[in-house]
Amino acid sequence: MRSLQPYYGEGKRRTESYREMIEAMLSEVRAGHRVCGVFYGHPGVFAQVPHHTIAQVRAEGYDADMHAGISAEDCLYADLGIDPGTFGCQHYEASQLMFYQRRLDTSAYLILWQIGVVGDRSVSRLGTGAAYRKLLLELLEAEGYLLEHEVIVYEAATLPISQPRMERMSLAALVDAELHPQSTLVIPPLRPMARNEAMLARIAAIDASLF
Ligand SMILES: C[S@@+](CC[C@H](N)C(=O)[O-])C[C@H]1O[C@@H](n2cnc3c(N)ncnc32)[C@H](O)[C@@H]1O
Repeated sequence: MRSLQPYYGEGKRRTESYREMIEAMLSEVRAGHRVCGVFYGHPGVFAQVPHHTIAQVRAEGYDADMHAGISAEDCLYADLGIDPGTFGCQHYEASQLMFYQRRLDTSAYLILWQIGVVGDRSVSRLGTGAAYRKLLLELLEAEGYLLEHEVIVYEAATLPISQPRMERMSLAALVDAELHPQSTLVIPPLRPMARNEAMLARIAAIDASLF
């Protein structure tokens, strides 16, 4: 058994650590061993190494499968009592939301992953801070979110003896909030869903022609 943890290093780009992890697993496969990579949560959720490893292993002609695990996302729905089907749920990597132009639906939940390192372009930091979060708030305000809007900093329990963190605060308070690498930000819907009357009318016309 080999730990992939030593591939991380302070100040080292995570992309470099990921490349080394992939290579470590690939070299074992090439040596003819049966390899099982174990990752916390779901190996395919906000996790590059398992996806890239499987793709590379298959490209080299070997078999590889991914098996589902219980993600922080699953724990979040259970702990916070959220059903993603009620209003819809958008998931973004927090920095990606800032680096690219995206369209947000403020009538659905917005879940921001890796909020603790929001704005980190170096992919090497363990945390960013207030200046970066202020920019995120600016972006969210431009989408219509109010600074008084209640958000939740969520951290699923990682030990059977610990409790989840479900800290409610205003969006404004996020700037100085204590955030960790395992923090996920949950932003509940801001406005009710608006009915699509035109589409409903067209569906009603089909129904009327059938019955
Ligand atoms: C690289 S992703 C890995 C996610 C993992 N594959 C999963 O399925 O939960 C790391 C991010 O997942 C989220 N995360 C990880 N552990 C968490 C926890 N205990 N509670 C809430 N979110 C968590 C945070 O947003 C964190 O920044």
